[in-house]
Amino acid sequence: MTAQLQSGSDDKTVLVTGGAGYIGSHTVVELIDNGYECVIVDNLSNSCYDSVARLEILTKHHIPFYKIDLCDREGLEKVFKDHKIDSVIHFAGLKAVGESTQIPLRYYHNNILGSLVLLELMQQYKVSKFVFSSSATVYGDATRFPNMIPIPEECPLGPTNPYGHTKYAIEKILNDLYESEKKSWKFAILRYFNPIGAHPSGLIGEDPLGIPNNLLPYMAQVAVGRREKLYVFGDDYDSRDGTPIRDYIHVVDLAKGHIAALKYLDAYDDNEGLCREWNLGSGKGSTVFEVYHAFCKASGIDLPYEVTGRRAGDVLNLTAKPDRAKRELKWETELQVEDSCKDLWKWATENPFGYQLRGVEARFSTEDMRYDARFVTIGAGTRFQATFANLGATIVDLKADGQSVVLGYENEEGYLNPDSAYIGATIGRYANRIAKGQFNLEGKDYQLTINNGINANHGSIGSFHVKRFLGPIIQNPSKDVFTAEYMLVDNDTDTEFPGDLLVFVQYTLNVAKKSLEIEYKGKLTAGEATPINLTNHTYFNLNKSHEDTIKGTESQSGF
Ligand SMILES: NC(=O)c1ccc[n+]([C@@H]2O[C@H](COP(=O)([O-])OP(=O)(O)OC[C@H]3O[C@@H](n4cnc5c(N)ncnc54)[C@H](O)[C@@H]3O)[C@@H](O)[C@H]2O)c1
Repeated sequence: MTAQLQSGSDDKTVLVTGGAGYIGSHTVVELIDNGYECVIVDNLSNSCYDSVARLEILTKHHIPFYKIDLCDREGLEKVFKDHKIDSVIHFAGLKAVGESTQIPLRYYHNNILGSLVLLELMQQYKVSKFVFSSSATVYGDATRFPNMIPIPEECPLGPTNPYGHTKYAIEKILNDLYESEKKSWKFAILRYFNPIGAHPSGLIGEDPLGIPNNLLPYMAQVAVGRREKLYVFGDDYDSRDGTPIRDYIHVVDLAKGHIAALKYLDAYDDNEGLCREWNLGSGKGSTVFEVYHAFCKASGIDLPYEVTGRRAGDVLNLTAKPDRAKRELKWETELQVEDSCKDLWKWATENPFGYQLRGVEARFSTEDMRYDARFVTIGAGTRFQATFANLGATIVDLKADGQSVVLGYENEEGYLNPDSAYIGATIGRYANRIAKGQFNLEGKDYQLTINNGINANHGSIGSFHVKRFLGPIIQNPSKDVFTAEYMLVDNDTDTEFPGDLLVFVQYTLNVAKKSLEIEYKGKLTAGEATPINLTNHTYFNLNKSHEDTIKGTESQSGF
């Protein structure tokens, strides 16, 4: 049985459970880069939607998102009904070893029941390809055997904590299911070693809620001043410098391992099933101090640390033997620990508090709680705040000293109403009227649909005010300043204007100055030249929010 590796994916849809989380979000980037479509399901118990909003801008793709717990069968079935799922990558799970010893029932319930419900629905909807996030934890202490470091997939399993037991149990379930219906299933079990680092863009990374359990995120928090010092658990191991050895793998390399596994399953003989395990590691061990020094170098900071006693359950060396993945999946790591430290440092400095920022709030603007239809408020709780919608990258509200000074609707319905009068919206591709809807550009004549007397107004039928922008990326670069960046992919197939256009709308709110600035950028990515003239269509009422007239309002504008 040999697998033929193919490149294209024919726009196949992958259900990514846990896709708002650390490894899942990085994998979504690689999936989209490889031509797959993604649907994310996540209950946001250890993540937040902002990672998905950022993924949209990073990938220039709309990514359907469902806030659903995998144990909620009815909710999850809706996803299978709404989308033709071709394969599943299953990241969703609780993952903290220490916590699992304190609340084992929650771990068993969440990880195992969630996986069972997912597999049952896959069976019902005839989805056969499944990539599972397992862990090197299933091996337990591989040093208990004489010749098992580096650890091969054949190493006997022996997890030592409830978290590891859940991964072991799910692996067993997959094996049993495969044995019962060999031709119906294609299972790739990926046993990760120690994922670290962040996306080189600095837009996504690990954002542990609470105290980080892992070395790198902990060091990053010490470096940005969120924690006092690093604790090194034991320097009396029989290693180069006395600290334990682990196999660290850049999260982007790990994400690419999932693409390799999925392509392997995609290309696998349709008359055969499969249930196979692969280690995803670098094959190179690094000590805690080596990683510490690499991170200090990347950040330029000598982090304070304290050596304390060994941690229960820690062993000397857990390094992967990744030969099987190299041979069969044609995958191996390309990045080094130094790259991980550099990328982590970029992520940590640009997002010292991760995704969740004080002064940012979001609410649903539709009854069906669509995440891409959120209203996001920046400067929330301060004396100057602004609320925006994805639809039209619209200014929904601007409040000074608690008083609204612009007009807006309570929910999306208002904006979708034909009488909405473009209220608060981004206007494009061309703000204002084009006489008779005609223009000539580079010797070519264009005719737009007439929508205003005898003219075409505000982009006519391709008007941005009813287009759903991607994002936003929200940042808080200094105490008083918040930014919200939206993106629109406006291809010539979506409009009567020529050329494929990428549009960026960035709002910068300065609470201290009580100012809101808008910056527009357009980038022609393909096709013919296009006219472009962007603006915002806000109706100001600087006098009082609930008065019928704008008497007393003074306006001032500058460019
Ligand atoms: N990060 C590691 O060191 C590591 C190592 C080995 C294996 N893994 C496994 O890889 C997977 C992803 O890990 P990660 O580091 O990205 O973790 P993460 O916590 O960042 O991501 C997991 C995501 O799953 C979601 N989730 C949890 N339970 C859910 C449920 N019942 N329904 C819907 N969503 C749910 C969480 O909200 C989170 O967004 C996990 O299964 C983890 O056990 C992680």
